[in-house]
Amino acid sequence: MKNLTIALMLLATTSLLLLLPSASAAWVETLTRGNKNLTKFHFYVHDPGAGPNATLFKVANASITDTSSTVFGQVMVFDDRVTADPDINSGQVARAQGTAASADLQNLAVALNMNFYITSGQYNGSTVSIAGRNPLLAPSREVPVIGGTGAFRFARGYAVTSTYSMDLPASYIVLEYTIYVITHDHEIVWPST
Ligand SMILES: *[C@@H]1O[C@H](CO)[C@@H](O)[C@H](O)[C@H]1NC(C)=O
Ligand SMILES: *[C@@H]1O[C@H](CO)[C@@H](O)[C@H](O)[C@H]1NC(C)=O
Ligand SMILES: *[C@@H]1O[C@H](CO)[C@@H](O)[C@H](O)[C@H]1NC(C)=O
Ligand SMILES: *[C@@H]1O[C@H](CO)[C@@H](O)[C@H](O)[C@H]1NC(C)=O
Repeated sequence: MKNLTIALMLLATTSLLLLLPSASAAWVETLTRGNKNLTKFHFYVHDPGAGPNATLFKVANASITDTSSTVFGQVMVFDDRVTADPDINSGQVARAQGTAASADLQNLAVALNMNFYITSGQYNGSTVSIAGRNPLLAPSREVPVIGGTGAFRFARGYAVTSTYSMDLPASYIVLEYTIYVITHDHEIVWPST
């Protein structure tokens, strides 16, 4: 009886594992419909702001930053490691490079300019740029995709980000990103003169 229970449990676990590939999907996937591609990225951005491995640095502040409850005027620059898994030591798939300027006098929100420079897989070397308002305390934040290069020329879309983990004493934050990007065939070619 006990053995049967274990066998059934094993079976259940096995069939669960068989279902997992769709659940733990790849960090990048592309669907093609007609002349359009929809690419979905899912990955983790590592933001160590202190210590020997810091990749996020404060570069400027304003005269009111010190007394502002929203650190208004503070500007950060980053070149963050991006991985498919939450572990920083898992394989790098991209770098997230850009600036975050505290630009809201009332709430904690930054004007984010972030370029995902893809460093592995079929889109290695291409970039996806997001820019917009990021309300840091909201559980889920949406930022527009405003363009891209390489495979992502003419890209449009949006990114949804949330805080995966936050270790304030170590100044180490991990952000989870899901990005949807639409591209289309460039059917119109500039006429040669
Ligand atoms: C910095 O990175 C190296 C190499 O990945 C690692 O061995 C070390 O533990 C890291 N140091 C800190 C303080 O996280
Ligand atoms: C702002 O910059 C000044 C001068 O570099 C520095 O003394 C001060 O600590 C900074 N304040 C904040 C909140 O970063
Ligand atoms: C990505 O492209 C760069 C530049 O072409 C190349 O050096 C690197 O080996 C490529 N990386 C992967 C993982 O394909
Ligand atoms: C869609 O993506 C594939 C690579 O995944 C590429 O070969 C193709 O050119 C893309 N098509 C469009 C319409 O962007």
